[in-house]
Amino acid sequence: MPTSTRTPFIGGNWKMNTTRGQALELAADVARAAAEKAVGPQVAVYPPYVWLETIRATVGGVSLMLGAQDCSPEANGAFTGDVSLDMLTECGVSTVLVGHSERRHGLREPEERIAAKLKAVLGRSMTGVLCIGETLDERETGATDTVNEMQLRSALDGLKVRDPGKLVIAYEPVWAIGTGKTASSDDAQAAHAAIRTVLVSILGDAHAQAIRIIYGGSMKPANAAELMAQPDIDGGLIGGASLKAEDFTAIVDAARA
Ligand code: PGA
Repeated sequence: MPTSTRTPFIGGNWKMNTTRGQALELAADVARAAAEKAVGPQVAVYPPYVWLETIRATVGGVSLMLGAQDCSPEANGAFTGDVSLDMLTECGVSTVLVGHSERRHGLREPEERIAAKLKAVLGRSMTGVLCIGETLDERETGATDTVNEMQLRSALDGLKVRDPGKLVIAYEPVWAIGTGKTASSDDAQAAHAAIRTVLVSILGDAHAQAIRIIYGGSMKPANAAELMAQPDIDGGLIGGASLKAEDFTAIVDAARA
């Protein structure tokens, strides 16, 4: 359990997985497990857009947030294929992932667009989860902290953060995502502490101490407790292991242990 007073945040990023039936079943299992505990971490699921309405009723009414994996920074207009925050709000979404590495690197999403999305999300008082992290090459050349700082400054400099509880930073080393390789708890803690130091310089100490910095990259029941026992690791963003209700709820439990 994190040693701070920050409420842990656990997100399940389903990515482009699940059929309609699987999505309903997974949401029901996770919602049931979340409802069993009165106190604990903030928990969110990020299904594919097309299942948001499908699982909305299952997720609603319990301590489980419904999230979107991406959004448009624009309000509306000729943006084929994009989905606006108004549309997501109508679907019951209250949290959005921004700058996930599969979009940042895989789809070459530019820093300015990531910054615009985060600004739009926070501007609507939704919870924004800003994903940052270094590639393997960057890690091997010792650039981890520099890359994280560049990505943070690009998204946060000049941004008005009224409620630090609604900004979550997900540190996700790219080489650890979906690979089964996890950063050691010491390495992850070092990166998280460096991120918090950058947050102090951008947003001030009070905000920096209140913002949750969560770890992502092959987090699973076997390593979750050790990672989240680190003082600056305030939860996790879970990909593969969020697709099995049993594994995901075990990670949620590790955050409240
Ligand atoms: P993973 O994905 O847990 O499958 O590594 C994490 C993420 O991409 O958010």
